[in-house]
Amino acid sequence: MIVKAIHLEDFRNYRGLYTTFDPGVNVVVGENAQGKTNLVEAIRYFSACRSHRARTDSELIAFDAPSARMVLELESRHRDFRLEARLRRGARRSLASNGVKLKSAAELSGILNTVLFCPEDLSLIKEGAAVRRRFLDDAISQLRPRYAAAVGEYRRLQEQKTRILKDFREDASMVGLLDTYSLQMCTLGAQIIHYRAYYLQKLAELAPEIHADCSGGREKLTLAYRTVSTVSHPLASVQTLYDQLLTHSQRHKQAEWESRSCLSGPHKDDIEVSINGVSARTYSSQGQTRTAALALKLAEREISFQDREEYPVLLLDDVLSELDTRRQEFVLNRIGGGQVFITCCEEEKQGSLRAGKVLRVENGRIG
Ligand SMILES: Nc1ncnc2c1ncn2[C@@H]1O[C@H](COP(=O)(O)OP(=O)(O)OP(=O)(O)O)[C@@H](O)[C@H]1O
Ligand SMILES: [Mg+2]
Repeated sequence: MIVKAIHLEDFRNYRGLYTTFDPGVNVVVGENAQGKTNLVEAIRYFSACRSHRARTDSELIAFDAPSARMVLELESRHRDFRLEARLRRGARRSLASNGVKLKSAAELSGILNTVLFCPEDLSLIKEGAAVRRRFLDDAISQLRPRYAAAVGEYRRLQEQKTRILKDFREDASMVGLLDTYSLQMCTLGAQIIHYRAYYLQKLAELAPEIHADCSGGREKLTLAYRTVSTVSHPLASVQTLYDQLLTHSQRHKQAEWESRSCLSGPHKDDIEVSINGVSARTYSSQGQTRTAALALKLAEREISFQDREEYPVLLLDDVLSELDTRRQEFVLNRIGGGQVFITCCEEEKQGSLRAGKVLRVENGRIG
């Protein structure tokens, strides 16, 4: 997968940008607040169907502009694509691929795969389950459009069910709706768990190998999938998962009513990350946290490669300078194939890199 060029209009601090990229290593350099992460964000947008850091699309539109336009030219699956997104304040975004308007963001799934690694990813190890679910959702959605659609629909149902639990408790006609939502959430939940279980199986195989290489074999990383308690075997058939989710949902109906929140379902899933048998979230040092996060990201890249037979585009935003020399070398040796974007502040930081192209960013312009 190769991003060949990008065109941005009124996207964050880029008023008008057109630039081409190298199929190998692209180094994006510039001082703070010049637009390095903004560029990475624009590329990433097309693979995840959303920004990795903005809460809403309107944050992406240049402060004084009514709309923004992003166009990406890329090669994927031996075909050329021209992906376009138009963002408007107070209106729905529109997406197009090769001039054809897309009905939903899920249709973008699988065209551009990216793996992003940025300093915030250390939270993958140290923070709550939501961060790890998001990692899973972003990774799987890029490979499986059906998963992306199921997760989107599940979220919508969850929001509606929560609204009823909170606001319409006294309205008897709404109560019947709760059961309908619960059933639909079990159907989608079973599919979601099925995809996550298979993804986790691969991740749990690959990440520890990468982690062992990076830590010189001294440490052992283990990953385990934690889902709804009635699910005895997450790799079971979707029908079995559905039955088990239904049992959980029925048992927790009263508790949901009393707590006014959705308690039952895969929206509480987690990945348990352990190093040498103890919880990484609780006990890992800063160095261990970095290595574990790095292993997860490089494993994500490997899974994408195995699935697609093409390397995803690797986006390393500000992370090389965060890693010590040994881990830097490890990453650079590991990323043999595929296109890479590396952002950094100073050029000397990328001394050992064989950059195909150096893009100097200054105040929303690339010189
Ligand atoms: N919607 C927007 N409209 C205009 N400018 C914006 C918008 N959103 C962000 N910016 C500006 O973009 C600038 C560059 O942001 P970016 O995060 O890309 O910097 P960076 O080059 O990655 O810096 P650092 O090295 O500190 O990470 C910031 O000064 C920010 O104020
Ligand atoms: Mg930045």
